[in-house]
Formats: sequence, structure tokens, C-alpha cells
Amino acid sequence: MLPAALLAFAFVFVFVPPYLTFDPDQARLQNLRRDIPWHYGFLVAHVIFGTVAMVTVPFQVWPRLRQRYPAVHRFMGRAYVFGGVIPSALTSLVIVPFAMGPVGNTIGALLWLAATLYGWRMARRRQYASHRRFMIYSFALCMQIIEGRVMVLTIPFIPGFEPSSMPLLLETASWIGIVLNLLAAQWYLEWSARRNRASLATAVPAR
Ligand code: HEM
Repeated sequence: MLPAALLAFAFVFVFVPPYLTFDPDQARLQNLRRDIPWHYGFLVAHVIFGTVAMVTVPFQVWPRLRQRYPAVHRFMGRAYVFGGVIPSALTSLVIVPFAMGPVGNTIGALLWLAATLYGWRMARRRQYASHRRFMIYSFALCMQIIEGRVMVLTIPFIPGFEPSSMPLLLETASWIGIVLNLLAAQWYLEWSARRNRASLATAVPAR
């Protein structure tokens, strides 16, 4: 989980500060709608709540923290769900009609909300295997935004890049992030289940 945490903190360090000035001139977004005054307000709210989600989620999926400090896991979990995912996903749905790549972003936000709320509900019902599964999907959907933003920055430097193809490329970028991260999450869940089965099979039976 260390690489994920480093990636999350690097993303926040690079992308978030311009929005903490509350000055629309500092916004990196090319398509900021100055004719719609609330666009900037919702964007800043989305970024701040997204930051809460992104800095808490690597700790949530870190097994050692969960096992050693369950109270910290519960406290950070509530911050992740109620101070991060829910407000960040809902505000992203408000600004998504102005984004390049609106379909992928809308699906990403809805999947992120659904996986997180279901994972939270499973924890409330003490169904911890399902809770872990859906929170790993939630983690994957939170982190996919990093790939999307990195692609936004790098796509214009691809040789032969046509500015008119930007909306299609950004739509593709958000789909790639969602699909790749969900596949990685599924692979991780299956790999860890196989590893647990193997260690159970080799364990010396208790007498
Ligand atoms: C599935 C989850 C998310 C969705 C669907 C989403 C969606 C969006 C959308 C639609 C925009 C506006 C893009 C545009 O108008 O071109 C945006 C901007 C932004 N989002 Fe998110 N977002 C998500 C999660 C996050 C998280 C977790 C963070 C963490 C800090 C974050 C940080 C940002 C930042 C910094 C911007 C401004 C981008 C820039 O300056 O280039 N987002 N997001």
C-alpha cells in the first residue's frame, strides 16, 4: 500500500493547492465556466472533499492499521465515507456536464458512490468479507482519477496530437482508468484469497 499512499499524496500535492487559494484565476482547469458563478464553487468543494477521500483511503486499506488500531480504522472510515466520497462524488456530478469526458466521469462517480455505500452497509451488518471486497473496489475507483488526470496532462505532448480530438481522448482516458483499476482490484482480491487458502492448507492442524 506504500506506493498507493505515495501516489495519492503526490497527486494531492500537485493538483490541489491552486484550488485552496479560492481564486478562479489559479484554477488549472481549461474549461472553467466563468459565466456560471457556481461552477468554480462546486469544483473547489469537490477538490477539498476529494482530498479527504484520497488521503484517508490508503490508510483504510492498510491491513496492519486495521488489525492494530481498529478505532482509528473506524474513525478514518467515517471521514472517508461521509467527509470524502459522498460529498466529493455528489459535487462531481454537479460539475460533470461541463467536463470533457462526461460519460466516463459520471459512471466513475456513480460506481464510486455505490461501492462505498454498499461497503459501509456491509460493515454496519458485520459482514466483513463483503465490506473488505467493496471497499477495495471503492479504493480502486478513488485512485483511478490519478491516471485520468495524468493522461490529461500528457496527451497534448503525444506526437501528432490534434486539439479537436481532446474530448474523445479524455473520455477514453477516464474509461481506461476505471476499467484498469477495477481489474487490478479484482486480481488483488483473487490473489489474496488464493494466498489465504494456500496458507490454511499448509498450516499444521491444532491438536
Ligand atoms: C470517481 C471519482 C471522481 C470523479 C468522477 C471526479 C470528477 C471530476 C470532474 C468531472 C472534474 C472536472 C473536470 C473538467 O471539468 O474537465 C474534476 C476535477 C478535479 N478533481 Fe475530481 N473526480 C473524482 C475524484 C476526485 C478525487 C478523489 C480527487 C482528490 C483530490 C479529485 C480532485 C480533482 C481535482 C484536483 C480536479 C481539478 C483538475 C485540474 O485542475 O486539472 N477528484 N473531477
